[in-house]
Formats: sequence, structure tokens, C-alpha cells
Amino acid sequence: MRIGVLTGGGDCPGLNAVLRAVVLRAAAAPAAEVVGFRDGWRGPLDVDVRPLGRDDVAGILDRGGTILGSSRTNPVGMDGGIDRVREGLAAAGCDALIAIGGEDTLGVAHALAEAGVPVVGVPKTIDNDLSATDITVGHDTAVGIATEAVDRLRTTAESHHRTMVVEVMGRHAGWIALRAALAGGADALLIPEQAFDVDDVLARCGAVREEGRAPIVVVAEGALPVEGEAVLSGGGTDAFGHVQLGGVGAWLAEEMTKRGGQEPRTVVLGHTQRGGTPTAYDRILGTRYGLEAVEAVLDEDWGAMIALRGDDILRSRLAEGVGRLKTVPPEMIAGFSSLLG
Ligand code: F6P
Repeated sequence: MRIGVLTGGGDCPGLNAVLRAVVLRAAAAPAAEVVGFRDGWRGPLDVDVRPLGRDDVAGILDRGGTILGSSRTNPVGMDGGIDRVREGLAAAGCDALIAIGGEDTLGVAHALAEAGVPVVGVPKTIDNDLSATDITVGHDTAVGIATEAVDRLRTTAESHHRTMVVEVMGRHAGWIALRAALAGGADALLIPEQAFDVDDVLARCGAVREEGRAPIVVVAEGALPVEGEAVLSGGGTDAFGHVQLGGVGAWLAEEMTKRGGQEPRTVVLGHTQRGGTPTAYDRILGTRYGLEAVEAVLDEDWGAMIALRGDDILRSRLAEGVGRLKTVPPEMIAGFSSLLG
């Protein structure tokens, strides 16, 4: 059996751990081999494929990014895209495909599974916004990076008695922002799930300053002000129709300065959250997901999405994973209201 594998969408630390586990598990199965498609769905569309053996995955466990490359190519948005992927898999001699991705990549995988293509999904995204799993590969590393940034900003903020605004990733869901704010002891949290009022943020930061502390505001890139539209970077729209976000932190700092004179400084963490070495947690999670993905292929459990519930690795369905975005529940936000304004 020849198993194709690809990584699609925004990269994240931990992808190589999944790839390594897929290759090593397949190597231990009778008559199974793995090939890798380059750059997400572009790979099968262009039949851009490379062998992936034990030697190719040696030493990649601690490497960020993906040795296969990634892209936001969307076959579903193309005429005959699903059939082209099916033909590409056949041309590469693949009997099955493991797609490692977030809502977009696994959305395509789901469409393929519905069309009878033998595919299994592995959930990854720093945003952690896929349903049917407790966590996605890459999220833990991103939270660690954002938390370290909050810690570092605190010392300089305190020296200068300054307010700091830290913008983190999170298009539709505030998981990175929430966890970094909690772990870093931030004072205010602004996330896409709940529109924010600049005056409330000012009041919260003012109270913190009164206590002699330097306020830290963590804002997710997709957070929306009550009085306005999404703040955009002015960049383009990708093949899945997502506009490029970024800029809400700078916008907030400017508004705060206009209204309250606190003159916050803004830091945008951006793609640093997706770069570098995966945490031990993401290496282990990626390894467990990769192993189980091959088990699902060997069982011909098409349409499965590998998931974590509690500490158990299990198989959910792609339909469930991409059916609805997993956002931060209001009761969870409310539970932290005594810590985070
Ligand atoms: O992969 C998810 C994500 O990191 C989002 O948090 C962010 O909005 C988006 O990708 C950025 O995408 P790109 O790398 O294409 O700019």
C-alpha cells in the first residue's frame, strides 16, 4: 500500500513530528510505503511528489515548519478540482492520503472523503479552532511563544510605567490569546468571540496603573471593536476567502492614546508564533496523531479525523472536525473575569 501525505494551510511547529511518525509506523507495516506531496493541495494537483522514507525523516522531530512545504491552494474552489486531486493521487500510485491541516485543508479532505477518495485527516493549527478534538498540533508551541512575549514585555513595561498591547494570532477564535493572557498574567483580553469597547479597556488599564502596575493587553488579531469593522492589514484574500488580518493592536493603541493619553506600545507577534522548535507537548501530540493516522489508513477508516480527548487518542470524523469552528465559550471567558478585563 502506498500512502500519500501532505501538509496544508498555515504551517506550525509539530508538523514534522506527524510526518516522522507516519513514515516510521508505515515502515513497520507489511508492504506499506509513504510518499509526500509538496505544498499542500498543490502537490496532488500537480503530481509534485517525493519519496518519504526513514532516512528522510531522521532528525526532523525538533524542526519547526514542514519538510513538505505548505500552501493555501484550494482544489474545491477550482473547476474539477476534486477530480484533479483524485487523478493526481492515482498518478502518484497512492492508495490512500493523510491530509494534515486546519479548517481549510481538512475541509477539502472532507469533500474528498465525501466523493469517495480514501483520505484520513490530522488536525493542526496554532489557532486550535477545530471541533471534535481537544487540541490541534502547533497550538501549545504558539501559546508558549506568546506567553514568553508577555513575560518579556512585562519587565520593560514596568520599567517605563507603560501600557503594552500584544497582538497574537487567532482569526476566529481567541484560544492563543486566552491561554497566553492567563499564563502571562495579563490584565485585559480581547478576542474574536466578544466585541470589545475601547473605553472599557482604558478603564481597566487605568485601574491597573493606579495600583502602580504596568498593564498588559492581549488582543487576538480577529478581535472586533464594538464600534467598528474588523481591523485589517490591507493585505489580500487567500484561496479560501480569508482576508489577511493584522493591525487591531495598533488601532487599539492609537484609540487609547486619543481617548486617554496612556500611549501604549504595540507588539505584533505574527508569524513568530508559527516558527521555530515545537514544544515537547507538540512533538508527542504530533507523534501520537501520526501513528494513529496510519492505523486509520490500515483499517481503511476513510473520513476519519484523528483527535485527542482527555489523554486518549481516538478517531473522530472529518465532518465533525470541520462542521463548526471551536471558539472560546462565553462561560469560560466569564470564569476569568476577575483576572482579565
Ligand atoms: O494558520 C492559522 C493562521 O496562523 C492564523 O492565525 C492567521 O490569521 C493566518 O494563519 C495567517 O496566514 P498567513 O500565513 O497566510 O498570513
